[in-house]
Amino acid sequence: MEVDLNSHYGLNPAHSEVVEACKIIEPCNALDMGCSSGRNTVYLGQLGFNVTGIDNNSAAIDMLKNIVIEQGMNNIKAHVHDINNACLDADYGFIVCTVTLMFTEPSRVGAIISDMQNHTLTGGYNLIVCAMSTEEQPCPVPFPFTLRAGQLSEVYEGWELTKYNEDVGTMHNGAKLQFATLLARKTN
Ligand SMILES: C[S@@+](CC[C@H](N)C(=O)[O-])C[C@H]1O[C@@H](n2cnc3c(N)ncnc32)[C@H](O)[C@@H]1O
Repeated sequence: MEVDLNSHYGLNPAHSEVVEACKIIEPCNALDMGCSSGRNTVYLGQLGFNVTGIDNNSAAIDMLKNIVIEQGMNNIKAHVHDINNACLDADYGFIVCTVTLMFTEPSRVGAIISDMQNHTLTGGYNLIVCAMSTEEQPCPVPFPFTLRAGQLSEVYEGWELTKYNEDVGTMHNGAKLQFATLLARKTN
């Protein structure tokens, strides 16, 4: 049986929405935006995706690069990259952005999402999980950016929404936090 590299390297398991999405998305060229030390990147790499992890934290990228070198995973690349620049330079079948958007510059979020959409191949997918703040459920954490109700589904108008919800979850300390979760397929 193949070794679980996430647990081998002390990484958390891949985000549950990444695991779910991989039940329907075939291995392809994938991008992990705000990959940190690579819990999703390594998982996707083990499944056979050609995956690029990007993050502006160079220490996290170095950790991921060490795993890649040690394991000889030539289907994984990792780069220091500031997502706020919204300047992707390749096209992908699957772009993952889990719990990252809320750390980006609010004035750049529209450009970041447009850039993701423009760099998604027809038939490809975007997965976004991002904190929300609404009147009913104000965000208890001072993230630089949070989504409004319905905001994420609006910007994916024209895409096929394979999954969309704005569920409220409970954090370890009991506080309630609302997240938008979107898995969308580009149809044209
Ligand atoms: C909470 S972590 C999420 C990591 C990963 N996506 C996951 O699901 O485990 C947020 C990540 O976004 C990265 N990040 C924040 N702002 C960024 C930016 N402007 N450009 C690139 N990465 C950024 C942080 O360095 C951090 O690794």
